[in-house]
Order: sequence, then structure tokens, then C-alpha cells
Amino acid sequence: MKSSRVLYMLVGLAMIFAVVGCGASSTPAPAAEVAQEAAAPAQVKKEYKDLTVCYPQLGAESDWRTANSASFKETAQQLGVNLIFSDAQQKQENQISAMRTCIQQGVDVIALPPVVEDGWDAVLTEAKDAGIPVIVVDRSVSADPSLYAAHIGSDMVVEGQRSADEMNRLLPDGGKVIELSGTTGSGAANGRAEGFRKNLNDNIEIIDSQTGNFTTAEGKPVMEAFLKKYAGQIDGAFIHNDNMAIGAVEAIKAAGLKPGDIKIVSVDGTRGGFQLMIDGWVQADIECNPLLGPQVMEMSLLLANGGTVEPKEQLTNETIYLPEQAEALLPSRQY
Ligand code: AHR
Repeated sequence: MKSSRVLYMLVGLAMIFAVVGCGASSTPAPAAEVAQEAAAPAQVKKEYKDLTVCYPQLGAESDWRTANSASFKETAQQLGVNLIFSDAQQKQENQISAMRTCIQQGVDVIALPPVVEDGWDAVLTEAKDAGIPVIVVDRSVSADPSLYAAHIGSDMVVEGQRSADEMNRLLPDGGKVIELSGTTGSGAANGRAEGFRKNLNDNIEIIDSQTGNFTTAEGKPVMEAFLKKYAGQIDGAFIHNDNMAIGAVEAIKAAGLKPGDIKIVSVDGTRGGFQLMIDGWVQADIECNPLLGPQVMEMSLLLANGGTVEPKEQLTNETIYLPEQAEALLPSRQY
């Protein structure tokens, strides 16, 4: 075949493909649609100053939470992000109604620190249907991961495992421990309880577990009750956060016990926890980092511009603090 004929055939074929399109659908788009597509403006890339992020904070129950709220507010201010912040006072229904208000307002992103794990499916579906990505912050949710864009926070199970490892070290001959647990049904309390039981030596018995709701005010009476009920029997205490440890230590002091009589492992690594280590009351403090504002704002910008967070589960890098480091580290603690 002559080369000029081959060329004509190729041009002809190319024209046919251009009209019917190639690929799965061979139906040509209606003329009106094509015209509309051509007129659509190019997507303008959002910057931090264009972002509105909703943060329905779960409460103000602890120093950890105060630091977490401050991290969001300060980061938003520095970057020029419009932050819609609310305080749900540890009530899930308040968080849900704050989220619904944000959905109605058409915010760019919702960052949700869930007070408890269950019961988020409906509102997460509403956000998804409205095209608003949700970043789950700090504690986890039990909802299907397809309902949210990302989860950033601590591995609460690992925190519980680290706590058990420290308790095993502190009670090498075994003993009886009590657990002062966080908010019932929260990802933090569930995960820490699970991890603690996973790693605890067989010769250590958990004789009781009660919630102190992550607060100093509720932790103290729970410890008072433990001390009455199990007088002289408690060798160790696993306390799910430093604020409850502060309350528990007040109760232990009032009962006439000395630092170290009950070995305490606490969680958070706040200034208050560091002071308890310096004073000899707490023997190990497992870090839980609240300073999540910068990462969440970065993710929000990415999501608002149509990006995805990979992997969806973003875990914070954390450590264990011991009394011998406490004095040197306390001045540089940010919370
Ligand atoms: O979810 C994180 C936990 O919540 C922190 O350990 C505690 O201090 C806070 O209240």
C-alpha cells in the first residue's frame, strides 16, 4: 500500500475516534453539556486564609484537653484559618448538634475529637452527603472508616501496653492493682484498658476498675472509695490520665500513705504529671500528645483541595517518661 493512502486512513480513523470518543462509553456527550464543561472555570486552589474548619471540642476535662484546644486555636490564628470552636462539655449530643450546625454552614472540614467511640454513623453520613470531609482527632470512632477522611491521634492500646510494662517492672513479685479509668465508652479508656490487660503479668491482679471521667474532681472520690474498700491491699494503680492521678494522690495523702507505697502509672505527660513524678508519687508517665493543631490544619488544606490523607490512620509518635528525667524536662514542657 502506498504511504499516502496509509496516512489518509490513519487521519480518518483519528477523526472517528474524536467524534465517538474511545473507552467504556461510546455515547457522545450532548452539545449543551460539552459547552457547559468548556465554560466551567478552573478550580481555584484554596489557601489557609480561605479555610473554615469546625472543631466541636469534647470538653475541658483535663490539662491535656486545655493544651489540645490551645493548639487548635493558636495554629488557626497563625495560619489565618477561620476556626469554628465549641465546647461540648463531655456530652456526645452537644458534639453532634455542633457538627450539624457546621454542616449547615458549609464549612470546608470538620475535625472531630469524639467523646465516645459509638454513635457517630448518622452524623458522619450527613457530613459525607454534604461533601464535607471529617478528620477524627485524638480518640477513635467505631464507625466505618469510609465515613471519615482520616484519623489522627495516639495509639491508646499501645499506651495501655506501655503502662502494663511499667507496672510489671514496678511490681516484679506481682501484687494487686486498681484501675482508675477514663470516660466510659471513650476510645482512650477502651484502648488503654485493653492494652493494659494484654501486657500485664499473670502475677498482677486487677482487683477493681472504676471511672473518674478523666477529671481531678471525679478521680479523687473514686480513689478514696478504693482506699477504704481495699485498705492495705493496693500495691499499684493504673490511672488513665494525669488529672485523675492528681486527685488520686490527694486521696492517698489524706489516707496517710507515703510516696511509693502505691506504685502509680499514669498517662499524658502533663506538667502536673511531671510534678507528681518529681514529688515521688508517680513512677511512670506514658506520653499522650495533645498538640495536634498543626497536622490537622495541614490535612484540612489538603482535603479542601480535593486531596486524600494516606494512610487514613495517622498515629502520633510517643514515649514513656520516668521520674529521673522529670526535673530536667519539666521547664520545657509545653502543657
Ligand atoms: O483522649 C485523650 C485523653 O483525654 C487524655 O489522656 C486525657 O487527659 C483527656 O481528657
